[in-house]
Amino acid sequence: MTPPILRRLAELRETTTPWIRAGARIGVVPTMGALHEGHMSLVDAAKAACDHVIVTIFVNPKQFNNPEDLANYPRTEEDDARKLARFGVDALWVPDGPQMYPEGFATNVSVAGLTDVMEGAHRPGHFDGVATVVAKLFTQTMASDAFFGEKDFQQLLVVRRMAADLDLPVKVHGCPTIRDIDGLALSSRNLLLSDRARTIAPRLQEEMQGIAEGLHTGKPLASLQTAAIARLEKAGFAAVDYLDLRRQSDLSLAEDLSVPVRLFAAAKLAGVRLIDNIAI
Ligand code: PAF
Repeated sequence: MTPPILRRLAELRETTTPWIRAGARIGVVPTMGALHEGHMSLVDAAKAACDHVIVTIFVNPKQFNNPEDLANYPRTEEDDARKLARFGVDALWVPDGPQMYPEGFATNVSVAGLTDVMEGAHRPGHFDGVATVVAKLFTQTMASDAFFGEKDFQQLLVVRRMAADLDLPVKVHGCPTIRDIDGLALSSRNLLLSDRARTIAPRLQEEMQGIAEGLHTGKPLASLQTAAIARLEKAGFAAVDYLDLRRQSDLSLAEDLSVPVRLFAAAKLAGVRLIDNIAI
């Protein structure tokens, strides 16, 4: 059965109030729609940990620094509801713009430090938009647990920091990145890739794996990065925004493998910006 679609905050509260009174665990899976298997893995994790699961769909204008990107973002609500039918999701929370940001809305949630680098540096205001909407989604749904993909690892850390700093009683779970058979990390933005770009896109992940292998055999990071960027540009990537080795804990730059690190990448291919990261 497709989950009931709730569009007004009053309906959402009516749904969740009895659950909260009964002491139930409520899991929330925040999304911007265009659901894929990556989202479904979050729903599976939420179903396993919680008594009730709410999936949210809201294409959040505050986190888009580029109006064209916002306009092009895929919107597939009917399909999304259909895809959720077999998962036993209890509710689909789909607020519209004025429901989320009523006239006079004036609050901004901003997380310092973690947001200075990578996506924060390349997309000014992006993480303020994410932190603001996620704080609202947590309080709207009254969730006890929230599920985010490690594909957006920086976002996961920002959301954890925000929830801890604001004393929001939500446990933030990070779930592994789900990949297509050719290694491309699943993302709603993949729908925007042309057939040709789709064949090139997995190269990003292949180059990242190559750097990981090189580091494990003691090769210097800088030369691995330079060679990988040159190959990606030759393959058709227009710009590699970053290909960084960073500490998993605080996203500061790392030089070696002496602490838990991840390799992070963002690159533009045929007008679509792809991001990925792998633990090393
Ligand atoms: O990862 C996303 O889809 C969005 O950034 C999120 C967490 C739903 C906030 O709008």
